[in-house]
Amino acid sequence: MDKTAVIKHPIEQELIEFKEVFDNSLHTSNPLLKEVLSYIRRRNGKMMRPILALLVAKQFGSISPATYHAAATLEMLHTASLVHDDVVDESDERRGQPSVNSAYNNKISVLVGDYLLSTALHHAALTRNIDIVEAVARLGQNLSEGEILQLSNISNEQLSEEVYYEVIRKKTAVLFATCAQVGAMSAGATEEEVEMFRLFGDKIGICFQIKDDIFDYYDNIQIGKPTGNDMLEGKITLPAIYAINNFGNERTAELVRKIKDNRISSAEIAEMVAFTKEHGGIEYAEKVMEEYRQDALQILQYVKDDAIREALTAYLNYVIDRTI
Ligand code: IPE
Ligand code: IPE
Ligand code: MG
Ligand code: MG
Repeated sequence: MDKTAVIKHPIEQELIEFKEVFDNSLHTSNPLLKEVLSYIRRRNGKMMRPILALLVAKQFGSISPATYHAAATLEMLHTASLVHDDVVDESDERRGQPSVNSAYNNKISVLVGDYLLSTALHHAALTRNIDIVEAVARLGQNLSEGEILQLSNISNEQLSEEVYYEVIRKKTAVLFATCAQVGAMSAGATEEEVEMFRLFGDKIGICFQIKDDIFDYYDNIQIGKPTGNDMLEGKITLPAIYAINNFGNERTAELVRKIKDNRISSAEIAEMVAFTKEHGGIEYAEKVMEEYRQDALQILQYVKDDAIREALTAYLNYVIDRTI
């Protein structure tokens, strides 16, 4: 069995059911909306978020309609955030095809993203669980705050690891944390159990974004979205933060100013990427992920079901070792 097979094994049937719940909520009579929704649905993502919610719920017993709706809420919210993110990041490719803003335009992306977001909220209501609705509302606030913090941090002259972690926790990790949290909630876990899994999701999510940021330093056609885009958008992520803060010189200070002023060239990005790699930036980011992996593994000791523990361990390893 390959790694993702181990991950999906305990929830194979449930994933099929989940896809039905997800797809069935995307029907509309408006021709343009219909067209764009079917364009988005041509490519599935990796479905990391519903898989996490389903695995966590499953260990507390059988999966209920509330779990499916909660998982659909989170995958839908994720999809909406990608459609909006590609506008904000001026990115022209997503899931191996032109992004919605590139295939259509920014206006359509904003409007269709809003439609997906509202559909996500509808699924939250269908859980009939007010604690889940509240968790989703808080999540939405965090995702927006994370994006806004990232944007305002571009004009911050300091390169702060602290701010970096705050951004990735809010824009990415909280989504994984909420998946694990509502997965547990939907299956009737105790408050203590819910909190334990929320923390597990948070650690996974931090690793997920660090890994995504590392991808940006390499050419990778398989990943299905552009690389080298972060610095172009003013974003300086963990590998470069480490290399610059520890080994920076006048030249890197100049390059940082150019990145933040939105006047960096491709050749200069290549120079900064080379500097980061030469000074161990990637290894440092990998070391940080390893620390989070160890913390997350500690939590998994408490999972009693063998198949679920193996699946969650494989999930954690996949997030860190994945190539797409
Ligand atoms: C992309 O998430 C957004 C980030 C948090 C980096 P995924 O890599 O899970 O996207 P899909 O859903 O598989 O396309
Ligand atoms: C991930 O940020 C968080 C989202 C809101 C999508 P990125 O901008 O790094 O995500 P990708 O690389 O475009 O998927
Ligand atoms: Mg982006
Ligand atoms: Mg990225």
